[in-house]
Amino acid sequence: MKVLVVGSGGREHALAWKIARSPLVSRVLATPGNAGMARDADCFPEVGASDADAVVALAKAENVDLVVIGPENPLADGLADRLREEGLAVFGPSAAAARLEGSKSWSKRFMARHGIPTAAFEVFDDLAAASAHVRERPGGCVVKADGLAAGKGVFVCGDSAAAVAALDEIMADRRFGEAGACVVIEDRLPGEEASYYAITDGTHVATLAPAQDHKRALDGDRGENTGGMGAYCPAPVVTEAVEKQILETVVHPVIRGMAAEGHPYVGVLYAGLMIDADGAVNVVEFNVRFGDPETQALMLAMEGDFVPLLDNAARGTLDRAAPVGSRDAAVCVVIASGGYPRSFDKGLPIEGLDAAGGLANCDDAVVFHAGSRREGDGFATSGGRVVGVTARGATVREARDRAYAAADRISFANAHKRSDIASRAVDR
Ligand code: AMP
Ligand code: GLY
Repeated sequence: MKVLVVGSGGREHALAWKIARSPLVSRVLATPGNAGMARDADCFPEVGASDADAVVALAKAENVDLVVIGPENPLADGLADRLREEGLAVFGPSAAAARLEGSKSWSKRFMARHGIPTAAFEVFDDLAAASAHVRERPGGCVVKADGLAAGKGVFVCGDSAAAVAALDEIMADRRFGEAGACVVIEDRLPGEEASYYAITDGTHVATLAPAQDHKRALDGDRGENTGGMGAYCPAPVVTEAVEKQILETVVHPVIRGMAAEGHPYVGVLYAGLMIDADGAVNVVEFNVRFGDPETQALMLAMEGDFVPLLDNAARGTLDRAAPVGSRDAAVCVVIASGGYPRSFDKGLPIEGLDAAGGLANCDDAVVFHAGSRREGDGFATSGGRVVGVTARGATVREARDRAYAAADRISFANAHKRSDIASRAVDR
């Protein structure tokens, strides 16, 4: 089989790496891919993930058997629909189904329609009305830009002054562009977060290991929200009883609801969840794609062949695919550019990739590239999250120690990584 992976981040590198290990696969292509992915896939840097015409043309010219779409923006823009119209097998939801992530107001109203547990909310498209609403909430609330904002459009506010400032940034300054024309304001949920991944063909479901990421920039979950500074799996907060509840109250109702509303969901449903002290589950958000960096950990921990799952989900025959398990744990430590998630320098030479690669030369530890580019014989930084150093082990502790041993070899000017990735599981 020839498999095309669409996207260029650490998530896509991890997907390409895992797909390339399938005995069914003769070639992995990536568009645009990134310089560090070239080991695992033939990259087509001239074809952008959002250039639907070019992606369709490439998929047809190269006769690919399956397209796996990584990022949310092309999904929201209808790339999966375009590819399906051309008769290609696609892992990823239609634009209509991608509204689960693309519009937080649509997603919250969908949850309300189907009785899916989530924080109480209101939707506003008027700054004055939104500001008045948060002033009535002195204890704080969560303010979310409605549209896609690369995971950065959410502000958890401890008091109404912080919420008013967030509204100004989103609605008046338009830091996230048109994504901020409308906001969702919701109650803060107490508890511990986890993410849960269900692969679906629109009817059947296959589940992956539950994971946890670290969204805040700094140790101790301080600082701003980022795309994710590290991740690990499995997440011990998702006990068997919690998992049962997630499937019964979240995953199956979403898949039934999407089908009943006429836009069956095909791809991976990523449920961001809050689990309270009593084990009650609430949805924080849905994403319509794999999490990043969680996927880097999931791919390393996964035993068995992932490709039959992706391929059968794309073809509506997921019940024919063998489930994939993982007895192992895995941890991903992101090394980011200093200043991320705001402004940061690019083009800084990255040292130590070979040394880290020396530790990571087996399938127990891998350096996944995200924001790097080729410079001479080496690599330089080109993005906020530069690499994800990912390792597996029999326990989360073993995986974490391996990941940090490799990550500590890598350096560039102003490099920043958290030092407490996976501590919630290790210190439990
Ligand atoms: P989202 O992009 O919606 O996942 O939000 C980003 C992060 O903000 C989440 O991972 C949570 O840490 C936090 N968050 C979002 N909504 C809530 C909520 N209702 N209560 C508490 N924390 C939240
Ligand atoms: N790690 C969070 C996300 O992928 O949205």
